[in-house]
Amino acid sequence: MNKKVVESSSSNRSVTLVDNATGREFTFPVISGSVGPDVIDVRNLYQDTGFFTFDPGYTSTGSCESGITFIDGDEGTLLYRGYPIQELAEHSDFMEVCYLLLYGDLPNAEQKRKFEHDITYHTMLHEQIHKFYDGFRRDSHPMAVMVGVVGALSAFYHDSTDITNPRHRMIASYRMIAKMPTIAAWAYKYAIGQPFVYPRNELKYSENFLHMLFANPCEPYTINPVLARALDRILILHADHEQNASTSTVRLAGSSGANPFACIAAGIASLWGPAHGGANEAVLRMLEEIGDKNRIPEYVKRAKNPDDPFRLMGFGHRVYKNYDPRAKIMRQTCYEVLDELGARDEPLLELAMGLEQVALDDEFFVKKKLYPNVDFYSGIIFKAMGIPLSMFTVLFAVARTVGWVAQWNEMIEDPTQKIGRPRQLYTGATRRDYKLLAQRT
Ligand code: ACO
Repeated sequence: MNKKVVESSSSNRSVTLVDNATGREFTFPVISGSVGPDVIDVRNLYQDTGFFTFDPGYTSTGSCESGITFIDGDEGTLLYRGYPIQELAEHSDFMEVCYLLLYGDLPNAEQKRKFEHDITYHTMLHEQIHKFYDGFRRDSHPMAVMVGVVGALSAFYHDSTDITNPRHRMIASYRMIAKMPTIAAWAYKYAIGQPFVYPRNELKYSENFLHMLFANPCEPYTINPVLARALDRILILHADHEQNASTSTVRLAGSSGANPFACIAAGIASLWGPAHGGANEAVLRMLEEIGDKNRIPEYVKRAKNPDDPFRLMGFGHRVYKNYDPRAKIMRQTCYEVLDELGARDEPLLELAMGLEQVALDDEFFVKKKLYPNVDFYSGIIFKAMGIPLSMFTVLFAVARTVGWVAQWNEMIEDPTQKIGRPRQLYTGATRRDYKLLAQRT
């Protein structure tokens, strides 16, 4: 997997830093990737100068070399292994995208057949994991269940946790991609008190996921192909997004040599927050709170007020300073799903479109380059499909698992990989002597 880490080229360009206090000059090489901004190689900065860089939130820091996903946030471009997201969403399917992210190229027909077969035959969970669910309260957030159950996989699948063994890494990766829909669907079934539905191997990945979410033993469940295709497209759109918070969490956890199941559990925890994967849930809550088109100006006003912590959920992105290309596809998918379900007059859609327009025309949002992101429309689609609010981020986690494992594999195979260990600007107390309790006032 990920046999090639893209080789960056060191141009003759360099950047010189001058210390005003001493007049000393330090020169650093500039490295070019295959596309995107060049980077200044500061790996020897501390050793050569005695300085660290200071970059909270890593807005200007490249943490790794990667050949998986490329984003141009100004242009609104997203490429998986070089392929534009729009083309993949239109012509490909999620299994093919998984193969592409893991192996670097699109599969031929035989490779695709084998990959789908192999993933399909890992969808079942160890039967004892069943019992694991019983430990959770029924009203647990399904993301809490996901963090727990995925973390617990390392206690069940010892035979694939030797990270130095490429075959172990491959089996662990397949297991996670395959089992995640089962774990997610069971988290939902547990919350609503229905029996767990086992995977059916003759179904495609997205069909099987819908089946495990919505089937029950009492009556037949017919899979709607439009909904299955929409879900598949949503999985494609969320499959990877280079070094975002959850992926960086997976890499950082993995850099210490932790087992892959534990690393993915860490990624799920990071995804949960409302500034990241939790935004799709937050968007729907916000739309429900706004409730009426007439109240849009009130909420837009609040979002613009620096003294009000309220933000328009589903707007803005650390990297995209243009329309998130995934949001456009998501909007189209939203129309398709609502048309199929005869719910085009869904009031939340009308509200969302109204809000989007007001924000796109508003000087504040234009100036700050705040555009709708991928999460803005996904919640409406999920709601129409009958997926409850608390499961929205779980679906994101299912989709992103392939990105996490592809990035984790790439990191392990990178010969320059080291444990991730940022430094800090210390502003706390300087050295002082311990005072005995009796001496403290
Ligand atoms: N509504 C109102 N104002 C906003 C919003 C928003 N949604 N997003 C950013 N801003 C403003 C900030 O107040 C800030 O203004 P200032 O410069 O006057 O202080 C400016 O835009 C820049 O915002 P930052 O928070 O510094 O930008 P950052 O890159 O750190 O944050 C983030 C990006 C977290 C996505 C932010 O835009 C946000 O909170 N959006 C809402 C949550 C959301 O939709 N998250 C999903 C992200 S996509 C994903 O994870 C799949």
